[in-house]
Amino acid sequence: MPALLQGIGIGLRRSFARELLATDRRVDWLEVIPENWMGFGGKRASLLRACAERWPLVSHSVSLSLGGPDPLDATLLQSLEGFRRQVGLAWWSDHLSYSSANGVRFHDLLPLPSTEEAVEHVVHRIREAQQWVDAPLLVENISYYARMPGGTLDDATFVRAVVEQSGCGLLLDVNNVYVNSINHGFEPRAYIDAMPMDRVRQLHLAGHTRQEDLIIDTHIGPITDGVWDLYRYTLRRAGRLIPTLVEWDQGIPPLDEILDELDRARGEAEAALGEEGTR
Ligand SMILES: [Fe+2]
Repeated sequence: MPALLQGIGIGLRRSFARELLATDRRVDWLEVIPENWMGFGGKRASLLRACAERWPLVSHSVSLSLGGPDPLDATLLQSLEGFRRQVGLAWWSDHLSYSSANGVRFHDLLPLPSTEEAVEHVVHRIREAQQWVDAPLLVENISYYARMPGGTLDDATFVRAVVEQSGCGLLLDVNNVYVNSINHGFEPRAYIDAMPMDRVRQLHLAGHTRQEDLIIDTHIGPITDGVWDLYRYTLRRAGRLIPTLVEWDQGIPPLDEILDELDRARGEAEAALGEEGTR
């Protein structure tokens, strides 16, 4: 099983898994959404096994509802630990949000109120979740279109407080920072400056869609210049190549187009850090 995870990866999708296994283009690692792969047998399981033999994997779940009011889903956490044992995970991640309440699951990742109380709540739950899975847990900053009422902290302060107090890692989504900065009118570089850079273990890059007065975090299409610029800035601030994932979740193009974005990410990282800095 490949152990060391570094460089640039892509999200594994069933639509191109077979093609990916046949490519000789460079892919350093893969991120898998465990809800789409856990517990399946047959072709899906054998594709996953073949990928796990070739690339290091990380898990990026979407349904843990880390900030939610309901008890953590013990069945899901148990399955995640089983998944880790099965395919080997360098780390696992979910979102700094909630996606269920009173037993009802939403299809959205909703923002938490940015308060000290919410920090305390989610820190406690991150520590609890961490006990279930024997790999480091990372939380991701989300995109949001409205702020929960009653917030007293700005988003960067909230994210930083959660990460520092819980001891977890940060999956910093550069596209989400960019999208939020336009929709909510803040300086994206100042947000990056406020992140605990030594705790950032992974980055996300993705496309978004501009509407008249809003940017939607669609994960469709190529990454925009504004996000590439913020990516280079983030790497220069970190002074190292943080493992970076190119997300493309809707309107998925031929694999080669995704791998072109991956190559571009490698080129942008070299531009930011110099060729030596990316090794
Ligand atoms: Fe993301």
